[in-house]
Amino acid sequence: MSTNFDVNRIREDFPIFKNHPDLIYLDNSATSQKPFQVIRAVTEFYEKSNANPLRGLYDLAQTATEEYEQAREKVRKFIHAARADEIIFTRNATESLNLAAYSFGDLVLHEGDEVVVSIAEHHSNLLPWQAAAARHGAVLRYLECDEKGKITEEAFRAALTKRTKLVAITQVSNVLGRKNDIKTFAKACHEKGIAIVVDGAQSVPHMMVDVQDLDVDFLAFSGHKMLAPMGIGVLYGKHKYLKKMQPFLSGGEMIESVTRERTVFAQPPQRFEAGTVNAGGAVGLGAAIDYINAIGFEQIEKQESMLTQLAAERLQKIPHVHLIGSDDPAEHHGILTFSIDGVHPHDIAAILDADHIAVRAGHHCAQPLHQHLGVMSTTRASLGFYNTEEEIVKFTDSVAQIRRKMGYDE
Ligand SMILES: Cc1ncc(COP(=O)(O)O)c(C=O)c1O
Repeated sequence: MSTNFDVNRIREDFPIFKNHPDLIYLDNSATSQKPFQVIRAVTEFYEKSNANPLRGLYDLAQTATEEYEQAREKVRKFIHAARADEIIFTRNATESLNLAAYSFGDLVLHEGDEVVVSIAEHHSNLLPWQAAAARHGAVLRYLECDEKGKITEEAFRAALTKRTKLVAITQVSNVLGRKNDIKTFAKACHEKGIAIVVDGAQSVPHMMVDVQDLDVDFLAFSGHKMLAPMGIGVLYGKHKYLKKMQPFLSGGEMIESVTRERTVFAQPPQRFEAGTVNAGGAVGLGAAIDYINAIGFEQIEKQESMLTQLAAERLQKIPHVHLIGSDDPAEHHGILTFSIDGVHPHDIAAILDADHIAVRAGHHCAQPLHQHLGVMSTTRASLGFYNTEEEIVKFTDSVAQIRRKMGYDE
């Protein structure tokens, strides 16, 4: 490890670890913990700058608006978008994907068209497309992965037909941890005039994502998985599409003018941010971006891949434990989903909890993927840069004891 990354120093920024000294938190894919810098930024917004942004003309309302718009600018830079008006604040990745499926789906889908989704999608990037396809008489087609979770360029290209209008796909799977080659997939889509909507919920917090380099049409992610508060999310969309899309929600602060008969909607992004916005959440997301930038993705990826490798190698050595997805730790990106012969994932999670280890058990909102893999449910450990090698050793030692605790001889 490089000397300027001191995990013990970093952990001091996270009050949760002071309040729960025994906690080994390995549920980072569900939500991350928050550093005091983010908590303080949100508190300060409410203590010093609170007014309803984007409407009041008095000084304090202008301050609130400025802080909200500064947060938008931080997000723009963070994902390397060309324009700030391509950044829409939502509640979370789920709302972002629903917005895309309604507003963009309405713009491009017609009867007989095809929407392609991968079998590995989180329900948040599946259900909105199922509904959009049904509303427009379009067909939802599934892009299968191999048994290790890989989607090859060949398989991707083969799924695109003359009727395909859009592809909705995750950058990193929340179950397999596998990263899709979005740049190659976007190129394949655009060669055929197809749009690509990317779920970045598990990628944006852990790696540098450049929407212009990837050339994605839409990118959705949640603040709460990247150190920010719950209740703030982002949808990036190319301006050429956003300007043509109708709003998903309507009401206050998203109009140019309203008469008894008709409404002229505001330009993006306001057109897609109906009602009072979550300015405190946006300011918190801005502070989270500052925090991540101060460490840098190089250090974050180094620490997370070192921990992933350690965890995967130790899990792979335990008899009766099966790592789901690739055998190569480098393809897990902080996500280690596993099963243990003869032990239900809920029992695994409960036994680990008794050792103060927090993991997730169930289908992880990816039931079609579990059906595809032939398992009902699994257990997932997901890592963050503030986890330590010592925690990984305790976690894997605890996993190694589970079958014995359940009454098996070995
Ligand atoms: C890949 C992926 N997409 C979407 C979501 C939905 O995120 P949220 O619940 O914040 O909307 C999640 C949450 O776990 C996820 O892992």
